[in-house]
Amino acid sequence: MTPKEEIQKLTDEVNQHNYNYYMLDNPTISDYDFDILLARLVDLEKQYPEYALPDSPTQRVGGTVTKQFRTVRHIYPMLSLGNTYSEADLQEFNRRVESLVHDNLEYVCELKYDGVAISLIYENGYLSRAVTRGDGVQGDDVTANVKTIKSIPLKLRGDYPPLLEVRGEILMPYSAFEALNREREDIGEPPFANPRNAASGSLKLQDSSEVARRGLDFHLYYALGENLPCDNHYDRIMKLADWGFRKVQVITKTKNIEGVFGFIGEWNEKRKSLPYAIDGIVIKVNSYTQQQQIGATAKSPRWAIAYKFKAERVSTPLLSIDYQVGRTGIVTPVANLAPVQLAGTTVKRATMHNNDFITSMDIREGDWLFVEKGGEIIPKIVGVDMEKRQAGSQEVRFVTTCPECGAVLVNNEGEAGIFCPNEQSCPPQIKGRLEHFISRKAMNIESLGEGKIEMLFENGLVRDIADFYNLTYNKLFGLEKKIESIDNKGDRILSFKDKTVENILSGIEKSKQVPFARVLFALGIRYVGETTAKKLARHFKNIDVVSSATKEELMQVDDVGERVADSIVNFFNNAGNLQTVVRLREAGLNFETKDEISKLGTALDGKSIVVSGVFSVPRDEIKQKIEDYGGKNVSSISKNTDFVLAGEKMGPEKRKKAENLGIPIISEEDFYIMIGEK
Ligand code: IVH
Repeated sequence: MTPKEEIQKLTDEVNQHNYNYYMLDNPTISDYDFDILLARLVDLEKQYPEYALPDSPTQRVGGTVTKQFRTVRHIYPMLSLGNTYSEADLQEFNRRVESLVHDNLEYVCELKYDGVAISLIYENGYLSRAVTRGDGVQGDDVTANVKTIKSIPLKLRGDYPPLLEVRGEILMPYSAFEALNREREDIGEPPFANPRNAASGSLKLQDSSEVARRGLDFHLYYALGENLPCDNHYDRIMKLADWGFRKVQVITKTKNIEGVFGFIGEWNEKRKSLPYAIDGIVIKVNSYTQQQQIGATAKSPRWAIAYKFKAERVSTPLLSIDYQVGRTGIVTPVANLAPVQLAGTTVKRATMHNNDFITSMDIREGDWLFVEKGGEIIPKIVGVDMEKRQAGSQEVRFVTTCPECGAVLVNNEGEAGIFCPNEQSCPPQIKGRLEHFISRKAMNIESLGEGKIEMLFENGLVRDIADFYNLTYNKLFGLEKKIESIDNKGDRILSFKDKTVENILSGIEKSKQVPFARVLFALGIRYVGETTAKKLARHFKNIDVVSSATKEELMQVDDVGERVADSIVNFFNNAGNLQTVVRLREAGLNFETKDEISKLGTALDGKSIVVSGVFSVPRDEIKQKIEDYGGKNVSSISKNTDFVLAGEKMGPEKRKKAENLGIPIISEEDFYIMIGEK
């Protein structure tokens, strides 16, 4: 078999397995064997990128970096739905429909998925574009990110039409949402408030391999195009399963509004055990002819309506407020509430976010607060129960000193929240920095975790991140911590034995291989997240240049605005931080970028490229991309040039020269395809 044939065969085979698994829920191969097939395909595509197919399953793991999402016009506008919380409104909707449709009325009821709307365009069977709703007329092209979602086919099956648009909702199941938030809290990033925000944030990530890890899912609810089969919505939704989509499980037809109420009642209960959030039910007139008869307003169709479930709400007394100090020193007020049942769980605590939240709601001591739990799992304080307010109640006074270290709290202008300025010796800030340093996306020292850090800290062995590299066998062996019993079985003693100590030390040793970008992230500079750290590392190449860069130089890096630049400058103006960097460097950590790490890909390895003409982005950006993918920018065309990248208005002289030498001329569009950014 030639490599080309093998790539074709593996692509088909892996796609079939993905289909069995994600669409039919009926896997016919072990995970292990599947991984072997996929790895072989990845390998072959690396050797022969020219043979990779447009529906290659390797796109599912991502790897594309999109700096800015292009704005794209929808083929058909994406309307929204009128919605209501009231049964009377539904009756009214039904009366209007019945007044226009006299015979054979049928409603379709579906779940109202609580995620992000997406439009998927399939041209000749291939997923060519995925666009967010945006303002309904135009949205963002998020194709690379959407391709990582396994329940979205990259290629249709069966007797599909040449052009098909499928709409649906991208959402994050609760399990993925909880895992993501745990991870974010581990590294000191703010958690997402609900799965919808998490899904929407994930779709806008620049790095599609990160999207691939987020566990997004897709549910379809609409299909349109020209000359499609079926004269009604229900049949067409069913038809989509023949074309390779997962069969819609929850959908029903009914002839009258009573049937609709039945479905609503059923799913108002059943939704509590769904693995993802829905916020209501959508009711649609089934027949397309009838839909047209009924028509639409500029914003939404009159043949459909969304019935939204009411969030469950209770009122309960505020008992006291805890003030939690986070890794960055931000102080968050948390309400202790009289325990109360809400949507299946007992609620006794809820965040009050910050001082603005307390003052804007005018929360006073002794107030009863309304707490709600909608599609979100986290209970939210939504207001004060004024009927229960006592006369003469006192305003809540935010603490003025740090509950952990006693320092006087500060409220810097322009900064979010009130925080403890005692970075150097406030315990949660120290521990937070240590935990951030060892976390997966930073130094990834798996043999250490929150509990062990606590022990090292309490025993005075580690206070500064550089102290990890001074740990020795003798210092660690035999360290003990009493864990108080919670089940009357007696206290336990946790103690560091041989194996634990060896693991810790080898994990620390291994961290010396971690590339510069992650070391920079691990330092815990405020506002410097993972992506910003990568960009800084790529731009400045080593720590000396970063640490001596001026604010203006820092702001040359995209994503680095004034706030981030100020924070970096401040960090390196601090003698203690500089000392830490010196010690880490002496310990052998990577403080400069190795070439291969700074690259985004290898698609242009060793290629000499001439750039000519005007592009949709500044020319420097194009040149940077060439370098990012391993290519070399050369200024004039010669027989050694691999290709000319031509924008608009390329000079005629250059074009002639390239043609004479037989050098390929590549468009901007093809260039993006070549480097896998399209
Ligand atoms: S139908 C023209 N069906 O709700 C009809 N929408 O406010 C277009 N949604 O933007 C929408 N589940 O994001 C439809 N089963 C469902 C839905 C659904 C969720 C979302 C969708 C839309 C919004 C309408």
